[in-house]
Amino acid sequence: MKCLEVEKLEAGVAVLRICREDALNALNMALLGELEETLQTLRADTSIRALILTGDGDKSFVAGADIVEMQGMTSSQAVQFSRLGHRVTRMIEDLPFPTLAGVNGYALGGGMELALSCDFICASDTAVFGLPEVGLGVIPGFGGTVRLSKWIGLSKAKELIFSGARLSSAQAEKYGLVAHIYKKEEFWISTVALAKQIASKSAGAVQAAKRLMQEEIHSNENPAKFDVEAMTFGTLFGHTDQVEGMKAFVEKRKPVFVGHGPTG
Ligand code: COA
Repeated sequence: MKCLEVEKLEAGVAVLRICREDALNALNMALLGELEETLQTLRADTSIRALILTGDGDKSFVAGADIVEMQGMTSSQAVQFSRLGHRVTRMIEDLPFPTLAGVNGYALGGGMELALSCDFICASDTAVFGLPEVGLGVIPGFGGTVRLSKWIGLSKAKELIFSGARLSSAQAEKYGLVAHIYKKEEFWISTVALAKQIASKSAGAVQAAKRLMQEEIHSNENPAKFDVEAMTFGTLFGHTDQVEGMKAFVEKRKPVFVGHGPTG
């Protein structure tokens, strides 16, 4: 594995770490492919009782999908990219054991969407959350338009997605996104302690509870919504604002939008 690390701590706690620190752990196709493969192995590992998903370094959890790679995508490649993101987030969501997102820094775009597919979020007080895609001329493409409103309600989800605003840990806690905020220096030890507490309980009981709660979520979910998100994400590629939004990021400047998307 090039961009992932799996570490087994004692007491059935495992850590899945995204290691692409030079790009703030941004998710490209190769990394998502590695995640898909690794999650298949982890899902079958009966020794795991709790999993912490985190990012390498102290600056970023995951700063989103890889904009440099997305910049060159056609519409149909973007649809495939979104579908890969959907498979990965669904696999995380449906792991049999509890999952904690250990958000140690930026959780933006696809990074926040990865965190939303975990059972709950533990954050450092330096963490930053947001779905900034509209500032790149696209929309969240890894399930954010479907999942965020389940976490924080429709109105706040719309506010965040339409504005692309960034939330501090404290704001994210007020929004109901974050279960625990820890001081940066205590973040890791406290997140591991919580995972160990979960791992010390009856695995059969904890997993039965998770299964029931996931079934409840899925029974109220229209699976077609993910496909619609992927198709809509794809249709925005090639339009003026997507081209400008991603080019501007790469050129480290503010984008100048003209409002030209499929409906613009
Ligand atoms: N995709 C690709 N590369 C990314 C990235 C992303 N989502 N986020 C950061 N990087 C890269 C930067 O291009 C930079 O690379 P370089 O050193 O080769 O220039 C490196 O990571 C460090 O990022 P930088 O922007 O210089 O750090 P910063 O501290 O000034 O800003 C962020 C940090 C997270 C605010 C900023 O990187 C950012 O806005 N990233 C994009 C967030 C986003 O829109 N995500 C949603 C994508 S759909």
